[in-house]
Amino acid sequence: MKDYIEVDEWRIIERGFNPHHNKVSESIFSLGNGRMGQRANFEETYSGETLQGNYVAGVYYPDKTRVGWWKNGYPEYFAKVLNAANWIGIDILLDGEQLDLAKCEVSDFYRELNMKKGYLERSFTAKTAVGKVVKVEAIRFCSMADDEAGAIKYTITPINFGGLLTITPFIDGDIVNKDSNYDEKFWDEVKKETWATGGYLQMRTKKTGFEVTTGQEFSFVQNGKVVSTSAQSIQKEKYIASKIELQAKEGESISIIKYAANLSSQNYNAADLAAKVKQTLVRISAKGFDTMLTEQAHAWAAKWKHNDIIIEGDAAAQQAIRFNIFQLNQTYTGEDDRLNIGPKGFTGEKYGGSTYWDTEAYCVPFYLSTADQKVTRNLLLYRYKQLGKAIDNAKLLGFNNGAALYPMVTMDGTECHNEWEITFEEIHRNGAIAYAIFNYVRYTADEAYLADYGLEVLIAIARFWSQRVNWSADKQQYVMLGVTGPNEYENNINNNWYTSTLATWCMKYTIEIADKVKAAEPAKYAALISKINFKEAEETARFKDIIAKMYYPYDEKEHVFLQQDGYLDKEQILVKDLPASERPINQKWSWDRILRSCYIKQADVLQGIYFFEDQYDIETIRRNFDFYEPRTVHESSLSPCVHSILAAKLGDEARAYEFYLRTSRLDLDDYNNDTEDGCHITSMAGTWMSVVEGFGGMRVREDKLSFQPFLPGKWKSFSFNVGFRGAILNIKVSAQGVQLKNLSGKETTVLVYGKPQLVKANHQLLVEA
Ligand code: BGC
Repeated sequence: MKDYIEVDEWRIIERGFNPHHNKVSESIFSLGNGRMGQRANFEETYSGETLQGNYVAGVYYPDKTRVGWWKNGYPEYFAKVLNAANWIGIDILLDGEQLDLAKCEVSDFYRELNMKKGYLERSFTAKTAVGKVVKVEAIRFCSMADDEAGAIKYTITPINFGGLLTITPFIDGDIVNKDSNYDEKFWDEVKKETWATGGYLQMRTKKTGFEVTTGQEFSFVQNGKVVSTSAQSIQKEKYIASKIELQAKEGESISIIKYAANLSSQNYNAADLAAKVKQTLVRISAKGFDTMLTEQAHAWAAKWKHNDIIIEGDAAAQQAIRFNIFQLNQTYTGEDDRLNIGPKGFTGEKYGGSTYWDTEAYCVPFYLSTADQKVTRNLLLYRYKQLGKAIDNAKLLGFNNGAALYPMVTMDGTECHNEWEITFEEIHRNGAIAYAIFNYVRYTADEAYLADYGLEVLIAIARFWSQRVNWSADKQQYVMLGVTGPNEYENNINNNWYTSTLATWCMKYTIEIADKVKAAEPAKYAALISKINFKEAEETARFKDIIAKMYYPYDEKEHVFLQQDGYLDKEQILVKDLPASERPINQKWSWDRILRSCYIKQADVLQGIYFFEDQYDIETIRRNFDFYEPRTVHESSLSPCVHSILAAKLGDEARAYEFYLRTSRLDLDDYNNDTEDGCHITSMAGTWMSVVEGFGGMRVREDKLSFQPFLPGKWKSFSFNVGFRGAILNIKVSAQGVQLKNLSGKETTVLVYGKPQLVKANHQLLVEA
C-alpha cells in the first residue's frame, strides 16, 4: 500500500519525484478517450524505470500461446492489445546535453490529472550533470471531442543559462510489448513521411494486418510569439522526427505545441490512412491547442453532468469515486460496438486488453445507469455479433446443435487465453452474458432487443448448459463436472454452486423470454426458431427437466450453499488467522498449496447471491456471507465491491464502508502492490456499484427503481444520477432524508424504503429521514 497521492476532490496530485513510484504513477495518471489511450510516460527521454504504453482500441496481435503439451480444444493464440507507436515523444538537448530526469537533480516535481477537464499536467525544475537548470511545464490530453487526436504543450525555461536548445518531436514505432510470449516485435513499418512542420509513420501489425498511422504537426512559441523554425527531418526504421535548434535566453520560455493524430485501418481503408492523418493534423492544428483544450473541458463537463457522484464531508472518498468514474469514461464511450472494456483499459498490458466476463457482470450496471442505453446495447451487440464464434468455440469442445460457449478472454469472439483449468473452465462467463441481457431489459424495457437479438443468444447459451450437465445415476440428479467458479483458487471442481445456479437460471430465463417473444412477435419468433432449428417442445422439455432435477451442493450443518463438492474437506482456517506475512497468498504460496486451501479469491457463492438476491431470505444471505467472507482473501479487485453491497444489504454499515474504501482507492493507494501493471478498470465499475447499490441500496423491483439508502458515518451527503427507462433521476442522501430530483421530462415512480414516490418531470421531492 502506498500513500503519496495528495487528496483533492477533482485532481489526482503527486508532488516530488520518486522514481520508485514512477510506474505506479504512469498507470494512475493515464489518459484515454475510448479510441486510444496511454500511460503517463514522460515526453522527454527517461532512462529510469518505466513501462511505455500507447494503445489503439481494438488493434491486437494473436501472440502464440505458451503451452507445453498441446491438447484438443486449446486456443491457438493469446490475444493482446498492442503497445503502439509512441506519439508523445519530444527529445530535449540543452547545449547538447540530454534532458533525462533519471540523470538530473529534480525539484518542484508536480504531476496532476485534472479529472474535471480531462488533462494531464506536469512541471519540474531539473539540474543537469553539468549544472544547467531548466524549468519544464507540460500539459497534454487525448481529445474526447475528437477521438483520433491528442495534443501536448511543452514549455522549457532555461533558469541559469542561455544557449542552444535542441528540440526533437518524434514518433517511435519501434515498440515492444512487455508481455510478448516470445520476445517478438509485433509491428512492421509500412511507410513514413516528414515535412517542415511534421510527419507521419504508418505501421502494420504482424498476422492481423491492422494498420495504424500516427502523425505529428508542431509549432513553436517563443517569448509569447509563434516563431517559424527550420527543422531537420530524421527518418530511421520505424521512426520519424524533426530536429529544431533554437537559441534560448536565460529566463525566456520556449513552448512546442505538438498535435498528434492516430488513425487505424479499422475505420478507414489502409491506403487512405496517410491522407486522412494529414487532414486531421491540418484540422486540429488550425483549431489550436487552447481551443482543443476548451473543447476537452466541455466534453468532460457533459460526461460529469451525467455520471458524477458527489460525496460531501470526505474528500478522499470523493477523489476516489471520481477517479474510478473518470477512468471508466476514458476507457469506453460506447460509440463503437466492436470495442469493449479490457480489465486494465488503456493503462497497461496485463490481461491483453481483451474482453472478460467483467464487462457483463460489473461494467454493464455502471453504463446502464449513467449513459444512454445505446452504450449498453452496443456492449450486448458486441457479444451478439460474436455468437457464431461462440458456437464454433463450443463445437471445438464437442458440443453441438448451436450450443454457444462464449470465450473467457477474447478480442473478436475467439477464445484466446492460455490456461486451461482456470480460464477455459470458467464457463460461468456464459451465464454473465445472459444476465446482462436480463439486466439491460429490466433497466430499459427495450423488449424489442429480445426478439431481434437477445433470444438467439439466450437459446444458444441454454443449449450449452443443457449439454454441459450430465445425469448422475448415483445421485439421480443432474451434475456439472469439471468447472472453475469465479474463485480461481480452485480449479476443475465438480458442482460449483454458482455455476450450476446460473446455468439453471439461464434455462429458466430463456424459456420465459421465448414464451414472451412468441406471444409478442410471432413472426420474428417463427423466423428465429427456423433459422437456428430450435425444437421448442423437445428442447424446452430438456431445459425443464434439468431445472427440476439439478444438484446443488448444500451443507446441512452450516446451512450454507456449498461452494462445490468437497469444499468442507479442506482445512478450515479463517483468513484472520493467516499471518500477514503470508499474504497475498498468490505471491507467497505455491499454486499447489493455494488449490488445497479453503481460501477464496473473490465472491463465488456470494456472487450468485448478489445476482439472485430476491430468491433468498435475509437470514440465508447472512449465513452465507458470514460463512464465506471470513474465508475470502479478496485477491481479485472484483471482490470487495460485491461484499460491500451485500454487507450494506445486511445492514452492516461499517463493513460495507470498509470494503468500499478497499475498492475505491485500490489503485490510488496501490493496495495490492500491482498498480504499476495498470489500473483495475473493470473493478472501478464495482466501486460505482458499491455506492449506488450498496449505500444507495438501489435495485429494480416491480419494474421500478427502488432505494434503501443509508449514509456512511463520515459523509455529510452523497448524490448520484441514474437513468431508468427514459427518466433521469438525481438521488441525494443526507441527514435530512432522500431527495429525489427528476432531471428529465418523464415522470416516474420509484420506491424509497419500500414506499412508492411519484417524481414528476423536472420536479423534486424529499423523503424525510
Ligand atoms: C479474476 C477474474 C477476472 C480477471 C480479469 C482475475 O483476477 O479472478 O474474475 O475476470 O481477473 O479482471
